[in-house]
Amino acid sequence: MTRTPERHAENWDLRHPDFNDNDFLYDVYAVMRAKSPFARTDNPFLSATPAGAWVAVRYAECVQILQDWEHFSSNPTPEGAEQLAGDLVITLDPPRQQKFRKVLNPYFSPARMKALRPEIGVETDRLIDDFIETGSGDLAAVAWRQPGIVFFKYLLGMPVDDVPLCVELTDTALNGATEQDRMAAWGGLYQHLHDAVTARRGQPPRDDMIDVLLSAEIDGEKLAFADVVSNAMLLVQAGLETTASAMSFAYHYLATNPAERDRLIDDPDLLTRAVEEFIRFAGSIHGIPRTVAREVELSGCTFSPGESVIVNYAAANRDEQEFPDAHRCILDRRDNRHLGFGAGVHRCLGSNLARLEFQVGLERVLTRMPDFALSPTSKAEFHGNSVTRGFRSVPVVFTPGKRVTA
Ligand code: HEM
Repeated sequence: MTRTPERHAENWDLRHPDFNDNDFLYDVYAVMRAKSPFARTDNPFLSATPAGAWVAVRYAECVQILQDWEHFSSNPTPEGAEQLAGDLVITLDPPRQQKFRKVLNPYFSPARMKALRPEIGVETDRLIDDFIETGSGDLAAVAWRQPGIVFFKYLLGMPVDDVPLCVELTDTALNGATEQDRMAAWGGLYQHLHDAVTARRGQPPRDDMIDVLLSAEIDGEKLAFADVVSNAMLLVQAGLETTASAMSFAYHYLATNPAERDRLIDDPDLLTRAVEEFIRFAGSIHGIPRTVAREVELSGCTFSPGESVIVNYAAANRDEQEFPDAHRCILDRRDNRHLGFGAGVHRCLGSNLARLEFQVGLERVLTRMPDFALSPTSKAEFHGNSVTRGFRSVPVVFTPGKRVTA
């Protein structure tokens, strides 16, 4: 039975089938934002709290939470001595979290990203070549494969052949139908990364992220082997579905809005701003939790230690108080301080890479198949019950072109 936005707003459950309709989900967020800065959910993603969780939905409060790590900790058990998930950059607080970032940061530097641009172009062209001569193809295949190939081949140091398995395991781990499926997929992904990192031990260095994690020292001590594996696994999870979902949304939007597609072709300088707007508008991630470490009051609500608060970046990114005409995708939007990459100490480490993959992904498609449009005979498939939301298929038709890679 379909429920109203008001009913959903009382107990937000991102896995509900009604949210396969993306516009409906944003209607629910509008109701949640209008009522209060904080909503509730009994079924939080990614936070194991039997009592449910708060959901921060307005821009201002989300920013405040993200900037106040002393009260709103990224550690799911801030009171415990041991980290449940190991020493993982995304579930640590400063100062140790900042030391982890220092280890990984050089791999995402603007200079390193700039040098990667030609390679990303070639990898994207190769994927387009798979269907360019036929005049029809699936742009979700480009969106889902390009970020994995680029990350595994040029940064992480894992075989490209592993990408499909890692995408599948990551997807099931986050979005699988039952807890049992999700746990089995986490286990499978961990084992896969464990085997890959084990195989690299004692081998000559290759200047990739697995090497960096294996040789890193924090406070004079090497990382525990399990933490090397967990952080490699985090990078795989953080880097694949996020970019793929956002890019798949952009392809769908342009395939269904030909005037916007042509505008980007006529004015390629718009691409940088358009990518930011797609990341704001498409909301590839709909929430990451914080745990209250010490009692704190925010906008009239008192949060007690141990409570979970989900920061809903997607809802915040449609807040009219921050973004005029927030419900419209405005490709040349200015002053776009969106939260798509988070904010504060945990702000996305891979944002420069994601932006580059996204820009090149759009640029190659717009250049090589400028008249692409959604296929009139097959349906686009949206995956709407997940932490990362995007299209699983974007079938398009276009004037056939020539292959450009060998
Ligand atoms: C469009 C694509 C992407 C989006 C929307 C995105 C979004 C985010 C967000 C919202 C956070 C903050 C999490 C928090 O507040 O706890 C984050 C953190 C992170 N992201 Fe991304 N991300 C993207 C791409 C990537 C890529 C390509 C990588 C690396 C390959 C990456 C690696 C990370 C890491 C390691 C963190 C944790 C940083 C920390 O805890 O200090 N992300 N990302």
